Parts: sequence; structure tokens; C-alpha cells
Amino acid sequence: MRKGIILAGGAGSRLLPLTFAVTKQLLPIYDKPMIYYPLSTLLDLGINDILLISTEDDKSQFKKLLGDGSNFGIKLSYETQKRPNGIAEGLIIGEKFLSNHPCVFILGDNLFVGSMSQYKFRKEIENKKGATIFTYKVNDPQRYGIVTLNKKSKPLNITEKPKQPTSNNAITGIYFYDNNAVQIAKTLKPSSRNELEITDINQNYLNNNLLRVMVLDNDITWLDAGTISSFYEASNMISVIEKRTGKKIGCLEELAYLQNKISLKDLIKSRNRYGSSDYGFYLQKIIENHVKLGPKIE
Ligand code: G1P
Repeated sequence: MRKGIILAGGAGSRLLPLTFAVTKQLLPIYDKPMIYYPLSTLLDLGINDILLISTEDDKSQFKKLLGDGSNFGIKLSYETQKRPNGIAEGLIIGEKFLSNHPCVFILGDNLFVGSMSQYKFRKEIENKKGATIFTYKVNDPQRYGIVTLNKKSKPLNITEKPKQPTSNNAITGIYFYDNNAVQIAKTLKPSSRNELEITDINQNYLNNNLLRVMVLDNDITWLDAGTISSFYEASNMISVIEKRTGKKIGCLEELAYLQNKISLKDLIKSRNRYGSSDYGFYLQKIIENHVKLGPKIE
């Protein structure tokens, strides 16, 4: 069974002064904390056992917000990244938690709007060997890890934040790894910016011909919220979609309920936690529909 890791560390220095006192992943993206979105992606993929890695200072805040995960029908545990030593260090920190299981590793500031649980992605979840990365076409590839593909969509090379990008296929912050990722992470040397790079993990899989690339197309919009403008654009986009469709994106209790991870009774208990917020009224609507129309019909 695949486990999940969310990395919510980092200094958030590109968002200062917002992040002096509050960690980036607890800042709001429209109507909910940023961390709800990557967590909802893991829920959507059917991952039930999740480790959240943050700094020591932020751990208590995340626990206050998310608890042990039982509100969302999952098991949520916590670990600390003492220093911002790079994304790949998350795998080493997660070694005990993973205990040789494959994982989905996701960055706490990445938002995937649209369902990742479509057939083609689910198939990748079931793959026992190798790694799968997901790309998205962007017009500012210098900001990301980049992969160049051949005509058959096979990866040729990957580079972290290239000054002169050879493609505009950004590598998004969700990675499916087999049970070798931790050992690979342990062999890495810090990069020139003194971090263990996730790109070096992916490079290792590529060298061994074990890296698959899935292209995120029209069904999914990828947003990252790492800079001040992308942060507000993400908020605006979520607000526009939610108002237009009447559906919330990243509503953890709704996902858990639809997947039978929590009961109606649990949902009612959770709803009370959200008071008279929009989020609370949204959960209320789901509960009322259930009572009116029967289970699982919205
Ligand atoms: C990290 C990764 C990069 C990836 C990006 C996605 O960059 O190093 O390869 O494309 O996340 O959000 P960072 O956000 O740490 O600059």
C-alpha cells in the first residue's frame, strides 16, 4: 500500500513578510489553508496513511488544524525537518514512517485543481517499480525543475531551474516513488544551493531507465503558490471556480465522506467545527442533501 508524505517545510522567503510569523502552507488560498489542497490530492488518490513534515515551530499549528487525521478518515502523523536542507531530505526523514512502502510525495505549496484519481494516474499508483513524475506546460520554466521529452514522451534529461531551459515542461511537486527512493536520497550530495534536490532523485530513476513522465493536460490545472503573484492568482482562481460551480476544491471532509472514509455522524461532528463559515455551510449542504436524497448524492 502506498503511503503519502507532504513536505511543508521551507522558509517561504519569497513570500516575506507574510511568512515571518506564519508558515507558507498555513496561509489562506481563498477560503482554506494552503495545506488543505495537497492533502486533498492525497485523499483523492486514496492514500490513507500520511506523514506531514514541517519545522518544529510549525508542527503544533499543523496539529491544531489537522489533528490525527481522523476527521478526514485517515491516519496523519508528523515529523520535523530541522533545517531547510532540501526537498529530498523529506524522504530520509520519512524513512521510518515509510518502512519500505512506496509513496506519493507532494509539496505543501502545490495545488492540483481537477481530479488526480482518473484512470491513467491511478494506474501509475499501482506501478510497483520506478518513479512517476507529472509535468505541466508553463511559460516561466526557469522557476522549476524541467524535463525534456522525446517524441514518444520518454524523458531525455531533467534540470533544476535551468537558466536556458530546453523545454517548458515543468516538473510539478507530486512524485510517485517505489520503495528505493529513501536509499537513493541517502546517496545524494547537497547541490550548489546546499540542498538535497528532488531533481537528483528523479535523475537517478532516469539514469536507471525507471522514470515515467505523465503529462497533466486539460483536466488538471497545476498552481504553485510560492511567489506573491502566484499566491494571489491561485486564490483568485479557486474563488472563481468555487463561485461558478458551487463546489469546493480541497474540501477534505467531503472527499472523506464520498470515499466512505467517514460516516454521516462524523461529517456532522466536523461540520460543527467550522461554525458559520462558508466552509461550514458547504458541509451543512452536503449533510442536508444526504438526509433528503440518501447517501452520496449531492
Ligand atoms: C521545487 C522543485 C522543482 C519543482 C517545484 C514545483 O522547487 O525543486 O523541481 O519544479 O518544486 O513546485 P521550489 O519550489 O523548491 O523552488
